[in-house]
Amino acid sequence: MKYRWGYIVVIICAALAVLIVGVRFFSWSSRQSRDEAPEYVFLYAENQTEDYPTTLGAQRFADLVYERTGGRIKILVKCDAELGSESDVIEQIRYGGIAFARVSLSQLAGFVPEMNVLQVPYLYSSSEHMWRVLDGPIGEDFLSTTRNYGIVGLSWYDAGARNFYSTRPITCLEDFQGMNIRVQESDMMADMVSALGATPVKIVYSEVYSALERGLVDGAENNWPSYEAMNHYMVARYYTVDEHTRVPELQICSEVIWNKLSDSDRKILTECARESALYERQLWSEREKSSRQIAEKSGITVIELDAEEKARFREAMALVYTKYCGDKMDLLQKIMEE
Ligand code: GCU
Repeated sequence: MKYRWGYIVVIICAALAVLIVGVRFFSWSSRQSRDEAPEYVFLYAENQTEDYPTTLGAQRFADLVYERTGGRIKILVKCDAELGSESDVIEQIRYGGIAFARVSLSQLAGFVPEMNVLQVPYLYSSSEHMWRVLDGPIGEDFLSTTRNYGIVGLSWYDAGARNFYSTRPITCLEDFQGMNIRVQESDMMADMVSALGATPVKIVYSEVYSALERGLVDGAENNWPSYEAMNHYMVARYYTVDEHTRVPELQICSEVIWNKLSDSDRKILTECARESALYERQLWSEREKSSRQIAEKSGITVIELDAEEKARFREAMALVYTKYCGDKMDLLQKIMEE
């Protein structure tokens, strides 16, 4: 009997001890999580799929920022255009509704017209040429130009070369006659398609697949990864490699948000954006190859233009140069000679 009472007392004491430790641990851990709650939680808009190089670059950016600010700045990457079309996102960036985004320069030029000069057709002779320009003083100047429009340019992302693809073959300039071709929401790209003899139709990126499928357009133009990731290759089975443009992309931040941050946080954001861009470029070149392989394996027809036909495409677009870069011919020349 004496022993039983002893046991009971020991069990009660142990239970009390567990309870006290538990309560203490609970209050300690909730304090910890309160202490560790981020000071800022920002949204990042991306219109590509989750596994796309630009989305993975964005995630790398978010992870680096979280790590280097000790968890004070958390960036939530929203892909698949969850936060809206690129134009809507840029609009929101300008008044601080969205903090970060990665956007195509074609869309950005609708807000920052100076950007047109960096993406006129046939401007760069190769990817290396484009990176010499963007990584040098010209690229830096253009990054800061966005500041006049409430946007902070952080870093350049790769988007390769754009080509035409269609539901019937484009083998020469004459094939554009009577075709409706989807373009981005960009006047310059619309003029480019008109100059080739087709009718441009501005359609937001997420709607291109259904426009091709329903026959609203006969073709579109984009790089290999977008053609594959958005399943355009399943409905537009002819891909004409003319490499008419290289449209780089930009990681941007809202100036409204930027102005609220300390100098040291801005420095971290800039460094992380630039590091993530190097990562994206590496992923990009791998994805260009694998996307092309996927599309080719599915049986699409790839049409390679010969030098003579390419020259005809290029000459047809001369008007675009005068309209969009007429007052910037010196700069254009400088870019071409880089
Ligand atoms: C590329 C680019 C997108 C853009 C799209 C388009 O895929 O990465 O940001 O929206 O072109 O053609 O609209």
